Amino acid sequence: MQIFKNIKSLQYFLAEERQKKRSVGLVPTMGALHEGHLKLLNQSQKENDITVCSIYVNPAQFNNTDDLKKYPRDLDHDQFLLEKQACDVLFSPSDKEMYPEGNLNGIKLGFGKLEQVLEGKFRPGHFSGVGIILSKLFHIVNSDKAYFGQKDLQQCSVVRKLIEELFFSTQLVIVPTVRENNGLAMSSRNTRLSEKGKDLAANLYHAITKVKNLIEEGEKIEVARQAGISTLKEQPKIRQEYFEVIDKRDFTTAADITPKSEIAVCVAAFVEEVRLIDNVLVFS
Ligand code: PAF
Repeated sequence: MQIFKNIKSLQYFLAEERQKKRSVGLVPTMGALHEGHLKLLNQSQKENDITVCSIYVNPAQFNNTDDLKKYPRDLDHDQFLLEKQACDVLFSPSDKEMYPEGNLNGIKLGFGKLEQVLEGKFRPGHFSGVGIILSKLFHIVNSDKAYFGQKDLQQCSVVRKLIEELFFSTQLVIVPTVRENNGLAMSSRNTRLSEKGKDLAANLYHAITKVKNLIEEGEKIEVARQAGISTLKEQPKIRQEYFEVIDKRDFTTAADITPKSEIAVCVAAFVEEVRLIDNVLVFS
């Protein structure tokens, strides 16, 4: 595996690969890699000649300094997993490399209504930071395809908008969520949970699945949503932030089912002070 910390040397390497007509897949991550990331890498490896995994904990997308400080980091282990997976390239730049001016607030990106609901509402500035770092990565790597997990469903919509609005030529590929045996969605943040916490956190998945099943059986959306909220409330150690049923085309609240509906049940909650998100698609 080739390891780059420097933008210019990565670009030099990729330009040579391009000359050989090799396609490039990008898997952008913040490290603390788990099976979910490995699935993204696997798909990229199947669909491209070269796979670049970026590992960079992007300060601009954290609206909470404590969250940034506590974000899990283990580059040596990540490197080990990437070598094992036969990833072609690891790009792990420093803050100085990605933000040479050191001015994280210099530029802002807006994503309209997407920023006013769910993750956008509860993490002000988060999607601007995600959009900025991904714009940088898309420019640097100029990938044919870029891979993202469905667990971050709203982020996937932000990325789609970013690609469309800024004419990036990369194609967005969304890969289904990978789960632990108990249903808990894999996330780098899970490393901060105790074993008990992981069992408790699986209730997020059970609650959203309950709502999905109720809607698919013909229950009214709001009735199903309230049932999900009540189920989760039975666990007093889980602090819910939002529990919504949305139309995943624009993330507005889904009121009715129509033939065109593309509905998802989304939750964010704290378990052992760790903020977790999850979602399931209805009728799919
Ligand atoms: O999903 C993530 O890990 C991050 O938001 C991303 C896409 C790597 C941007 O920093």
